[in-house]
Amino acid sequence: MSAVAALWSTSIGKKAVMAVTGIVLVGFVILHLAGNLKIYLGAGAFDAYARGLRELGEPILAYGQALWTLRLILLAAVVLHIVAAVQLTLTSWAARPVAYTEKEAVAATYAARTMRWGGVILVLFVVYHILHFTLGAVGYAPGQFQEASAYRNVVNGFRVWYVSAFYIVAQAALGLHLYHGVWSMFQTLGVDARSNGVYRGLAVVVAVVVVVGNVSIPLAVLGGLVK
Ligand code: HEM
Repeated sequence: MSAVAALWSTSIGKKAVMAVTGIVLVGFVILHLAGNLKIYLGAGAFDAYARGLRELGEPILAYGQALWTLRLILLAAVVLHIVAAVQLTLTSWAARPVAYTEKEAVAATYAARTMRWGGVILVLFVVYHILHFTLGAVGYAPGQFQEASAYRNVVNGFRVWYVSAFYIVAQAALGLHLYHGVWSMFQTLGVDARSNGVYRGLAVVVAVVVVVGNVSIPLAVLGGLVK
């Protein structure tokens, strides 16, 4: 068995895969937030950023090539993260076929207990989000979505209050998942137990910045600040 297969076959190996792919996903979420916040600089800046993503690496790379490479890396990270999570869950259920009679969690936080359901909600959110803002297949009147006008698409998309409400709820799920995920990642990667408080603090900062930043956008559209 190769070293990679041997690592994958163990629970700690799968946790390591979750931690490393988690770093890629957290990195994406932070960079995506930085891009999303350009909405406050106006249509010119936001659309230039969306165009820049496609022109990245030109003229050495072809139009869209760097973006597609990043998409494939992201997709691989998501798939590995989910497969490892499902396998770890199945192993844990198999080890405990009879449910606990006492189900009250003693030390686990709310965030820790909602990782699985939270993960499912996030997958559903991302599928909807791509259909919405990347493809314009849902959430718009016919002809309203314009591929070259990301700013208009975001404003028109978030003007529908229930779509905004869905995004806001999804950000809450993302915040909980990030908080517990970032903290678990440090645990798996073997941080010094004495610094536990620092890592929890770091996990809170990442989760709060991402949620507040992202939630501000639908609220700014509904409140008329971004129009
Ligand atoms: C209010 C918050 C958000 C806004 C305003 C937003 C905005 C956008 C926009 C405008 C696009 C399309 C970009 C383009 O085609 O040029 C996009 C794509 C995407 N977003 Fe978000 N996003 C938000 C939150 C999130 C979150 C929380 C996640 C993940 C957890 C996420 C994941 C993605 C992904 C995977 C894509 C597809 C990228 C691609 O392949 O082109 N977004 N987002």
